[in-house]
Amino acid sequence: MARQIIRIDVKAAKGDIAKLKADVAAVGIFSNAPNTAFLDRLDVKLDGAIARLKKIGDFKAAAGSSVFLYTHGKIAAERLLLIGLGEKQKATTDTIRQAAAKAAFEAVSVKAKSLAIFRHNEFAKIDLEKLGQAIAEGIHFGGYRYDEFVTQQENGRSNFLSVLIVDENQKNISKLSKGIKIGQIIGKAQNFARTLANRPGNILYPAVFAAEARKVAASVPRLACTILDDKKLAAKKMGGIIAVGQGSIHKPRMIILKYTPRGKAGKDEPIALVGKAITFDSGGINLKPSGDMHEMKMDMTGGAAVLMTMEVIARLKLPVQVYGIICAAENKPGGSSYLPGDIITTYSGKTVEVLNTDAEGRLILCDGLHQARLLKCKTVIDIATLTGACVVALGKHMAGLIGNNEKLVEKLKKAATESGEPLWQLPYGPEYIEEIKGKIADLKNIGGKWGGACTGAAFLGEFMQGIIWAHLDIASKMDASEPMKKYAQDGSIGFGVRLLSSFLMNLAAKG
Ligand code: BES
Ligand code: MN
Ligand code: ZN
Repeated sequence: MARQIIRIDVKAAKGDIAKLKADVAAVGIFSNAPNTAFLDRLDVKLDGAIARLKKIGDFKAAAGSSVFLYTHGKIAAERLLLIGLGEKQKATTDTIRQAAAKAAFEAVSVKAKSLAIFRHNEFAKIDLEKLGQAIAEGIHFGGYRYDEFVTQQENGRSNFLSVLIVDENQKNISKLSKGIKIGQIIGKAQNFARTLANRPGNILYPAVFAAEARKVAASVPRLACTILDDKKLAAKKMGGIIAVGQGSIHKPRMIILKYTPRGKAGKDEPIALVGKAITFDSGGINLKPSGDMHEMKMDMTGGAAVLMTMEVIARLKLPVQVYGIICAAENKPGGSSYLPGDIITTYSGKTVEVLNTDAEGRLILCDGLHQARLLKCKTVIDIATLTGACVVALGKHMAGLIGNNEKLVEKLKKAATESGEPLWQLPYGPEYIEEIKGKIADLKNIGGKWGGACTGAAFLGEFMQGIIWAHLDIASKMDASEPMKKYAQDGSIGFGVRLLSSFLMNLAAKG
């Protein structure tokens, strides 16, 4: 059908900025630190162009800023891209990831086929392997464009971007390369999660999602994929996912991925990742307002994050057993839709009174969570674009985190910091649980007017009693925030792939 998304490849090599040929050579500059020896030498070659730029104030090296300098043959690269890193003391791994994203974003914008990023700053003692990983992740993130359905493009674009991370020291290359390998796996996976999320509802519906999951599973060893179609869901009495999906001609699917590391089968208690994959959320009979409704094609972001994290851990061969459970359905009004007031019996046997058909995510997830319980998972993390209330609470800068176990919450916070996919903890407790207790059924699917992110999570928690559980409400990170648009295309950001990969890598490292 559509055309290929841009191919990106990253490598590390020793090199000299004066001699390395590239369409774009990029260097990072702190706003408040003196030039490195590298920059001084470079500026001499450029007859002081960098110093002059700073002097006239066109480039202050603020984080997120950049400027192109045309080199006129003074160095081998056609263009020099200066990337602002902001203040040196404030810089973190994510500063570097974002700077790399900015470099790739700008390089793709000028149709570059080759980009060389020169590493010359030392700060905050970031391990070289972690640095290589973050740079590679950033390059994939910023270089991504979703244009598979664009057939006529005025300016065209390159089909590939080949990136070299250049260091003057040969001894740094092997560590950088090791990190780059990991970062490429994660970055590519994240970008495919973005593509899945960006695909519209007429192209990507539950059966298509399931077929994509099968393809992903077949592409890596030790990842098995079972798909439950609507008949199987009915036979198993998965009343939640069936109810939500019944209004659409595109029938629901539950996708169960199982990663079994070598030599570990059955030894550990498995972990489950459970993802919401509403391929389009119209709201159902409680129809959403039309304004931004089209964005609800991305209501399967959680499911995409689960699928692509499963691919990452299989490629990295992590020694942890993990299930990925994706609940896929389309929420649509129609002659056979579920109705406000309906009482449904979920997979767990708990009954739910549906007071709003637009609170559908929790109704599919509760069946997925129960599936995780039946698979004997002792730790379960769900990830979902669950509530608009989460966006109201946190803005578009962080995702919500709610859990019933502080140790798990802390591990997720650590992964959030490392991966640059930020989380903020929201409360969980009896006050919220009380709000979703039912009158004529066990539960109702909405709470009161306020604190919707917390009552939504509380609903899910009712299916996770006795299990270590955390919920990630990623509605606030469904698409790019304003500051992100400086280095990433608008649309899906594949949130959760880096975060969950980081969480599982840490877990694997501890054994
Ligand atoms: N998918 C939406 C939540 C959402 C909103 C995600 C904005 C991303 C951006 C979810 O299914 C939904 O409709 N939630 C309702 C719940 C309400 C009816 C209790 C909401 O947030 O309004
Ligand atoms: Mn909804
Ligand atoms: Zn939804």
